[in-house]
Amino acid sequence: KARLFSGMQPSADSLQIGNYIGALMQWRTMQDTYDAFFTVVDLHAITVPQDPKELREKTRRTAAQYIAAGIEPAKSTLYVQSQVPAHAELAWILSTVTGFGEASRMTQFKDKSQRYGADKASVALFTYPVLMAADILLYQAKVVPVGDDQKQHVELTRNLAERFNARFGQTFTIPDPVIQKDTARIYDLQEPTSKMSKSAESQAGVLYLLDDINVTAKKIMRAVTDSDGIVRYDRENKPGVSNLLTIYAALTGRQIGAIEDEYAGRGYGDFKKGLRDVIVAEFEPVRARALELLEDPAELDRLLGANAARASEVAEKTLAQVYERVGLLRAP
Ligand code: TYM
Repeated sequence: KARLFSGMQPSADSLQIGNYIGALMQWRTMQDTYDAFFTVVDLHAITVPQDPKELREKTRRTAAQYIAAGIEPAKSTLYVQSQVPAHAELAWILSTVTGFGEASRMTQFKDKSQRYGADKASVALFTYPVLMAADILLYQAKVVPVGDDQKQHVELTRNLAERFNARFGQTFTIPDPVIQKDTARIYDLQEPTSKMSKSAESQAGVLYLLDDINVTAKKIMRAVTDSDGIVRYDRENKPGVSNLLTIYAALTGRQIGAIEDEYAGRGYGDFKKGLRDVIVAEFEPVRARALELLEDPAELDRLLGANAARASEVAEKTLAQVYERVGLLRAP
């Protein structure tokens, strides 16, 4: 089986529907065909300030949501990034073949550093994509399923792998990003021209998997639409309605056209109620299962630890080869 690698940051108490549709749903189906590694990337999360106690809890919560959404630890390797030291070690090596200029071109760094200000943005926020490259390359992953905001980082990963291979000899598999075109970007319900994000400043337009179902229902009913009252996909002129249609289609597996037809001549109220029912039915079992898993944190920690040991075996092999290639003197 070919290798697959992907991960999410434990940067909030709950994942949001963009993570679910843009990534988790793909992970769930792909785990059957690939030898998959799914990581909770806590080392990435600390590139911006985190409360230590909360970080540990968010890490567990993220892992619990992977499992609740259908990632099976018996099939896939599901672990916490910091428990496999090779990630940080390879990131250092890769940073030696990363150009300052190419790292400076990463748009996510530009966005985030603007938000924190040049003095408050950490060096780690800048080198973040290099750690992400290490994640992927350690496992010789062939495919990396992500939303489109991560595409540039996977491109950088490819460049670093090719450069390293050219300089030191064939070492890394060149990974391909796998991006589901229709669902690669889910937008904020209150601001349907910006990407939905779990760490958004305002939560009013973000649908969290672990939110109380009534809160989620309210957010859907209050989603921004437009004044023409027609349920029709038109990203340019009707971003709010188009986003809701995208979510509806993704969760039901139906064509957008069929949903438009169903709601033809009916108002946005009806459409939103329909969508609310779809989302509630999807979220409810995931939420219940995640909360159940979180009632026994010791068991969850044991499972993650065992999976980290499995991941380490693969990762250490790649790292040893890299150290050898680069010319680091090893202890006999
Ligand atoms: P993160 O935690 O921001 O997001 C996790 C995954 O969810 C996708 N995503 C979305 N997809 C559609 N619409 C949205 N609004 C939306 N928001 C988020 C992301 O594209 C991602 O696939 N740097 C990564 C984590 C990471 C990683 C990796 C991913 C670290 N190492 C190696 C893949 C491979 C991140 O911050 O994702």
